[in-house]
Amino acid sequence: MAEFPNADGQSLRGFLNMVSTRFPEELVRVPQRVDSRFATTAVAFELERAGRSPVLLFDDVDGKGMPLVTNVAANRKLLAACLDVEPGDLPTAFRERAMSYLPCETLDRAPWDEVVIEGADVDLTKLPIPLQFTVDAAPYITAGQITARDPVTGVDTTGFHRLMLKGRNRLGVSLHSRRRMHEFHRRAEERGHGLPAAVVIGVHPLHYMGSMTYAYPPHVRKFEIIGGLFGEPYRLARCGIEDLEVPAGAEIVIEGEILAETREPEGPFGEFTGYASYRSTQNVFVAHRVRMRRDALFHSVVSGMAKDHILISCVTREGEILNALKRNLPNVTAVHVPHSTCGAFVAIIAMKKIAEGEPQMAVMATLGTELYTKYVIVVDDDVDVFDINDVFWAIATRVRAEKDIFFVPGAKGAILDPSSDPKDFTLTKMGIDATRPSGRDFAERLVISEEERTRARDILAAAGATLG
Ligand SMILES: Cc1cc2nc3c(=O)[nH]c(=O)nc-3n(C[C@H](O)[C@H](O)[C@H](O)COP(=O)(O)O)c2cc1C
Repeated sequence: MAEFPNADGQSLRGFLNMVSTRFPEELVRVPQRVDSRFATTAVAFELERAGRSPVLLFDDVDGKGMPLVTNVAANRKLLAACLDVEPGDLPTAFRERAMSYLPCETLDRAPWDEVVIEGADVDLTKLPIPLQFTVDAAPYITAGQITARDPVTGVDTTGFHRLMLKGRNRLGVSLHSRRRMHEFHRRAEERGHGLPAAVVIGVHPLHYMGSMTYAYPPHVRKFEIIGGLFGEPYRLARCGIEDLEVPAGAEIVIEGEILAETREPEGPFGEFTGYASYRSTQNVFVAHRVRMRRDALFHSVVSGMAKDHILISCVTREGEILNALKRNLPNVTAVHVPHSTCGAFVAIIAMKKIAEGEPQMAVMATLGTELYTKYVIVVDDDVDVFDINDVFWAIATRVRAEKDIFFVPGAKGAILDPSSDPKDFTLTKMGIDATRPSGRDFAERLVISEEERTRARDILAAAGATLG
């Protein structure tokens, strides 16, 4: 597998080199020409159906002369390797390191300064931007990390926001998660101007993970959180829009602004819910300048319910929920936000219950932490939260519906959740206490000891049988 040149360890290329060296079976290269319409997405989904989530590198998309990298964040093993931990320790490692903010380092030059295209020469249609689903209104830049500064405090942020290709220099954008970028734009508009912003394409997966954090002090920069994840200052460089700083290792930087008082149709787009989404804040980004590496890689996130789209949300939500729960409930042992529930809507919590009422505390703290989560299931620590069969077994055998299931009506839900109220996006949230009652005997769980399991494996090996 080819090495990627000029690869700083904090860059997407650095990540690709790590994968090709340490996990060569997790990098699939497609040398033949593929169509930007549907092909890259279909390949990722086909692999996913077969239980595989490798990084995909398409050398030739529509003959546009720029390779496309996708499915970068679809694999817990690779994300865990970025933090040098085992996959089971990923949420805890993420949670701990995301809180050790490190000041950034600003470099004088960056490789994305090699090619600079300005004004009327800007033409985003030259990028190999895929059309992913038949419902999509247009090709979408799905790996655009938008960065901008708070017009009031000057503190910057960075985050993924979908970008619909509308023309050579015009992108539709939806800020529906209504976190910092939405608020910064609202503050800019209130002051009568647009929001200067840069769309950064092609950064390391630890950047995406850090960009998904939300429960942190307002004076902290997300770039400082990302530095904490790297365990060293994040290297940035100043681009040409206002005094914005962007990652020095990035592939492509598109400078421009999110316009004030301008709303245009945006979408539909195949969203993480597995549905076409027609809900959007309908903002518009206009590009003034593009900077990129001479051999730039175009990064795209596989959209819809692909693991590439969702896994980062699973891990970062697990980290944020663990973070909130551990403050009051040190007996919480694990949190899982499954991919099959769109990486958002269900959280499963394991605890070593000491007193009745603790599962209810865990449910309330989780719902108060994560707006996207609407169903919280609490199990005992003998249940593997990452094994949905085990969780369903606990619900089937430990829940008395009349007392263990409770509802929170009228709660704020996610805009993109198709079951939330179309006018105000509220819905009913639910907690399920699937723990055994404490203080009295309960049915004894059947177990096969580790010793017997080892003996069984030896018997099978001697019989020439494999375990799949
Ligand atoms: C692949 C991916 C795509 C996303 N697309 C959007 C989007 O189009 N609009 C949005 O508001 N949030 C989107 N999000 C969620 C935001 O990136 C996330 O809420 C982030 O923390 C927002 O950052 P901010 O606080 O700087 O606004 C996406 C997340 C992922 C992982």
